[in-house]
Amino acid sequence: MIDGKRILLIIAGGIAAYRSLDVIRRLRERGADVRCVLTKGGAQFVTPLSVAALSENKVYQDLFSLTDEAEMGHIRLSREADLVVVCPASADLLGKMANGLADDLASTALLATDKPVMVCPTMNVMMWQHPATQANMLTLEARGVLRVGPGAGNLACGEVGTGRLAEVMDIVAAVEGYFAEEASPKPLAGRHAIVTSGPTWEAIDPVRYIANRSSGKQGHAIAAALAKLGARTTLVSGTTNMPDPAGVDVVRIESARQMYDACHAALPADIAVCAAAVADWRVDLDTDKKIKKSADGPPPLPLVENPDILASLGQLAANARPRLIVGFAAETGNVVEYARAKLGRKGCNWIVANDVSPGTGTFGGDDNTVHLVSADAVEEWPRMRKDEVAGRLADRIAAALAGAAE
Ligand code: PMT
Repeated sequence: MIDGKRILLIIAGGIAAYRSLDVIRRLRERGADVRCVLTKGGAQFVTPLSVAALSENKVYQDLFSLTDEAEMGHIRLSREADLVVVCPASADLLGKMANGLADDLASTALLATDKPVMVCPTMNVMMWQHPATQANMLTLEARGVLRVGPGAGNLACGEVGTGRLAEVMDIVAAVEGYFAEEASPKPLAGRHAIVTSGPTWEAIDPVRYIANRSSGKQGHAIAAALAKLGARTTLVSGTTNMPDPAGVDVVRIESARQMYDACHAALPADIAVCAAAVADWRVDLDTDKKIKKSADGPPPLPLVENPDILASLGQLAANARPRLIVGFAAETGNVVEYARAKLGRKGCNWIVANDVSPGTGTFGGDDNTVHLVSADAVEEWPRMRKDEVAGRLADRIAAALAGAAE
């Protein structure tokens, strides 16, 4: 699976650096070509000689080495790999990566590479939990950097907690998994998908707004799943704490009207999935001025209806309408019955109906229980994680488009 793949392994400083030698050995056993960059810190723990002997390749250490630059510059080094693996990844190197710093060969190669990067962090538990490290990791993952570990347990420093380098075979499995995924079919290549996600915020005045409990977990997972199948994916998202899914174009909005504009600006599309919890109403007031407290009591909040984004896509002329439009129905009872009614009313092909009654945890939780409702069938799906719902839905979308006449 990884036979002949070129892996650039960057070994940063850390007591676990010695385990990178085993990683090299296992990758070589599987036929991968492994080239190594050893940082100054890494060289405190493993010798260039052992790295060279196991990788059967020259070891690169110095950004300013004229010989290395003549033979293999840092740009070529970073570009000629199929995957860059940082193992172990120290807090320092993660910080440099997140902030675009390039003051040695490892960080420069990481900044220069156009190839996917996988990091295997290891450090003291407090360093791992530090908000700076967590923010750096979040930034990197949002940019599509893959992560293996760290695991929890006894740490070399004598403390106990999360910070252990992942097991060598887990790292090797992650590398194999990456290449397997990359080689998997991309049935939605050449398709464009628009996905809405998260809540909308409807201003009452400049400081207050009406919102709902949508976390964006379901919509973001769908965008990620469609992108994984090769679709160019535009995610129009309300305000959430979710990281941007890798390989997805994200358009951030606040209100329903902004979401409507962003969706229509993203057209044409082959697929539209409306998973956002769009406010049905907005406040019909001059929202530029803060409402003052008054002796007359609370102010009336007149409401007007928001545009229905899903219905507006369903009503487009045949040559402008996305071929497959999937809406969601969030109900607290008669889920399937209401979903069927919505299917016709909103002019979509399928409705994913979910029960959002209190206690189901659908809003904000990690799991969802849905029915997939189409004009002629209702499928009951078992309770599963939202990313599994997303994966299954994306597969169904790909199958439907593959079966549809062009
Ligand atoms: O974000 P999570 O915490 O993961 O939660 C996921 C979810 C519960 C928000 C999601 O699974 C879900 O059900 N989304 C739709 C919520 C909703 O607004 O349902 P609705 O029945 O009110 O709307 C029906 C459909 O019309 C939805 O596809 C909605 O996006 C769309 N709509 C509604 C109103 C409007 N003005 N424009 C729309 O496009």
